[in-house]
Amino acid sequence: MNNTIGMIELKGRKLVLGVTGGVAAYKAAELVRLLGKAGADVHVVLTEGGARFVTAVTFQALSGNPVWTDLWDPRMDNNMAHIDLTRDADAILVAPATADVMAKLVLGLADDLLTTLCLARECPLLVAPAMNRQMWENPATRRNVAQLAADGVALLGPGAGEQACGEVGLGRMLEPEELCEAVIAFFQPKPLAGRRVVMTAGPTFEAIDPVRGITNSSSGKMAYGLARACVQAGAEVTLVSGPVALPVPAGVEKVPVRSALEMRDAVFAALPGADVFIGVAAVADYRPVTSAEHKIKKSGAELSLTLTPNPDILAEVASLPQAPFCVGFAAESRDLDTYAEGKRKAKKLPLIVGNLVQDGLGGDDNQVVLFDEQGRHPLPKAPKPEVARAIVAHLAALLPVS
Ligand code: C5P
Repeated sequence: MNNTIGMIELKGRKLVLGVTGGVAAYKAAELVRLLGKAGADVHVVLTEGGARFVTAVTFQALSGNPVWTDLWDPRMDNNMAHIDLTRDADAILVAPATADVMAKLVLGLADDLLTTLCLARECPLLVAPAMNRQMWENPATRRNVAQLAADGVALLGPGAGEQACGEVGLGRMLEPEELCEAVIAFFQPKPLAGRRVVMTAGPTFEAIDPVRGITNSSSGKMAYGLARACVQAGAEVTLVSGPVALPVPAGVEKVPVRSALEMRDAVFAALPGADVFIGVAAVADYRPVTSAEHKIKKSGAELSLTLTPNPDILAEVASLPQAPFCVGFAAESRDLDTYAEGKRKAKKLPLIVGNLVQDGLGGDDNQVVLFDEQGRHPLPKAPKPEVARAIVAHLAALLPVS
């Protein structure tokens, strides 16, 4: 991900980014750019090791702020850089964090500006480790990682893959996009912590022959945005998705399917233990009775297709004896209230999200109205990720206490 970072999801956040001496420091430059694009005010603190990889000039140009390297920097009015820099910060992020800086953080050492800031801070500390696989696996690092977690430090990554030393394994710093996404997620409230959510997304594709089929223009953006919002709210999410060209949000387990029947099978396979089921997919109402084994050849004669109704996945899930909390979507072209509330009652749903197709389908923004037992709740028109968060907040408040 992410096509949503442009929506200023870190607006008003002040972040102190600590860059320590690892090869991944070059990726911190891109990270500064992405955090800034997401609206954050980024202040970079470069350690002596970090400055060997990337210069302060680069970070200054990308952040638009002075870069700090020295505990005794005279630019700070009262010589209190170690306290003032994080005074009104929302978080310190150390990326890349070497094994060395992690060990120092565990011990509470404060022998340079960054470690002093970390010790003197009141704000949360996020750490993105970056080191060679053997350093990561060393018992000393294992102990330090456990201690940092116990101290309430948020560990972002590391990821697995090819390393600068040529080895392959755990220890790579997460990519800048992943880190930016993790920072955005960090600031979100967690009303779905400990909950499991199964969702459907996108259109379905009902084959006529090996190359043709019946489908619709659902972009999947609303569903993918909702899956991302659920993960950011602390849920474990399985997204059963018809064919769409969208990146899978971080932390979401995607199950790709094509037809409505495949979608139904995948949903029922994922359902055990789910607290919430959200049907966002634009499931085709009908499918051809038969799909030709070979490509149908053109001829001058008329051709008719016989269609048979598809199962209603959401209605089937909602009618299970131990049904999860079920949420539906109703995309209508007119009479939204009547149709949406009618569908909610017919499918026995505690919550349905209604929208007029002209207000949402395929686009980046959406305007929706939520219908539940209490009545109608219109949400303001907003980018789909923002609408998704409002839906998540509403549904989380309706969930039975687990
Ligand atoms: O198509 P309809 O307007 O009835 O869709 C309303 C809701 O039902 C949506 O949440 C959609 O995902 C779900 N649905 C489904 N299976 C179908 C048709 C709709 O799960 N076959």
